[in-house]
Amino acid sequence: MGAATARLLARERAKVVIADMLEREGRHVAENIGDSAHFEGIDVTDEANSEAVVGAIAARFGRLNVLVNNAGISGSAEQDFHSTDAWHRIMAVNAAGTFYGIKYAVPAMRKARGGSIVNPSSIASITGSEHAHMAYNASKAARSAADDQTGGGAVREGRHAGEFGASGDHAADAHFGAERRSGDTRRSHAVHSKAPAGRGGRGGECHPVADLR
Ligand SMILES: NC(=O)c1ccc[n+]([C@@H]2O[C@H](COP(=O)([O-])OP(=O)(O)OC[C@H]3O[C@@H](n4cnc5c(N)ncnc54)[C@H](O)[C@@H]3O)[C@@H](O)[C@H]2O)c1
Repeated sequence: MGAATARLLARERAKVVIADMLEREGRHVAENIGDSAHFEGIDVTDEANSEAVVGAIAARFGRLNVLVNNAGISGSAEQDFHSTDAWHRIMAVNAAGTFYGIKYAVPAMRKARGGSIVNPSSIASITGSEHAHMAYNASKAARSAADDQTGGGAVREGRHAGEFGASGDHAADAHFGAERRSGDTRRSHAVHSKAPAGRGGRGGECHPVADLR
């Protein structure tokens, strides 16, 4: 989703910084986009690192207009969904990482006299998910609450899109594939009915929200 969002913003002639802890993959995405994209290494769980990266981006480009707090982990591969270590790890990326991004982007956006922050949430923040560590559900609810704290129409739109995207193809395939094959779609209907759009999203539907500015 991060790569798709970066490509979309670049198509709209934005200068895009792909910030991720996976350097090789991040550089590859930036190189494929071309001169308008640039890669920065970041660990969003490290507050000092987040501050430094946001500062470097604002200094390099003179302004910051859009932040997409895309980095996220679900913990679905955890053997133990009650692991305390996993709880802290997931909350650190999804909740604290989002907070640091907002904390250091907002002053730069104030200087630019406006901006958009998009916090991709998850339908799991409303319905819960038995396929992920419970910290995923909690951290995504924290992300939605962070939107309310940040305020602003574009930010709210971002939250809604995140919830919408949360029930998108990828998740639906992973979570509901067996159910669909059996023809019993009660669980997927119950989950999708809680999404703002009332249905599962399709690839690409949630990315355009990042272009709000
Ligand atoms: N794919 C879905 O169906 C879906 C549904 C709901 C919500 N979301 C949310 O959308 C976002 C993107 O999802 P995705 O499916 O593209 O995930 P993904 O795993 O493909 O990408 C997540 C990225 O976050 C990066 N990352 C993880 N920890 C990091 C850290 N500490 N510092 C810096 N980068 C870090 C990873 O390297 C990876 O590139 C996530 O926040 C996810 O929770 C996705």
